[in-house]
Amino acid sequence: MWKRSLGLALGLILVSASSAVAFWFIRDMYDQISIKPQEEARPMPKDSVPVGGYAVPRGYNYLTLETVLTPPALTPEMAAKGKVLYGKFCEPCHGTKGLGDGPVALKGMRPWWPLGSPQTQARSDGYIFAHIWEGGPLMAPYKYALSVTEAWELVAYVRELGRSQ
Ligand code: HEC
Repeated sequence: MWKRSLGLALGLILVSASSAVAFWFIRDMYDQISIKPQEEARPMPKDSVPVGGYAVPRGYNYLTLETVLTPPALTPEMAAKGKVLYGKFCEPCHGTKGLGDGPVALKGMRPWWPLGSPQTQARSDGYIFAHIWEGGPLMAPYKYALSVTEAWELVAYVRELGRSQ
């Protein structure tokens, strides 16, 4: 008899000593507003400005975007950075010198003319930015991969391709 009472007392002490007893059916701490692993973060509030500080207006395409842009002055330093980005993002199609002979182009995704050609060089900086940002009839948009500054750096490099050809 005394053994049973002792066991009960010991059990009671053990249960009350562990202050937080969690049962699988109690989810109070789990069901809360925090973002769970693999859950989508909240969408950005409307009209948010990126850390770069330059918001590109939405709802325009590669033909209309240039009408609402104010292009910055393009410097040789920007072109140098643009060259590195060009090697990563553009060369597969547009080729090392912008001639449209990259490995992907040779498989069919061929740009219509060289980036250094008079056709492209006659376009405004805003147009070239818009084409990179929003994509063209065939080319994909790069606004998901680049910052605004990087896109302008690429415009500077496209201009350099024009000078070198
Ligand atoms: C998957 C292949 C591919 C990649 C990668 C690519 N382009 Fe293009 N690009 C094209 C094709 C095809 C065209 C012509 C059709 C079109 O305008 O959509 C083109 C057109 C252009 C034009 C318009 C030329 C004009 O005079 O109308 C510019 C500017 C341009 N690309 C710049 C870039 C830059 C800068 C990058 C890198 C960020 C890039 N492209 C990446 C395939 C590509």
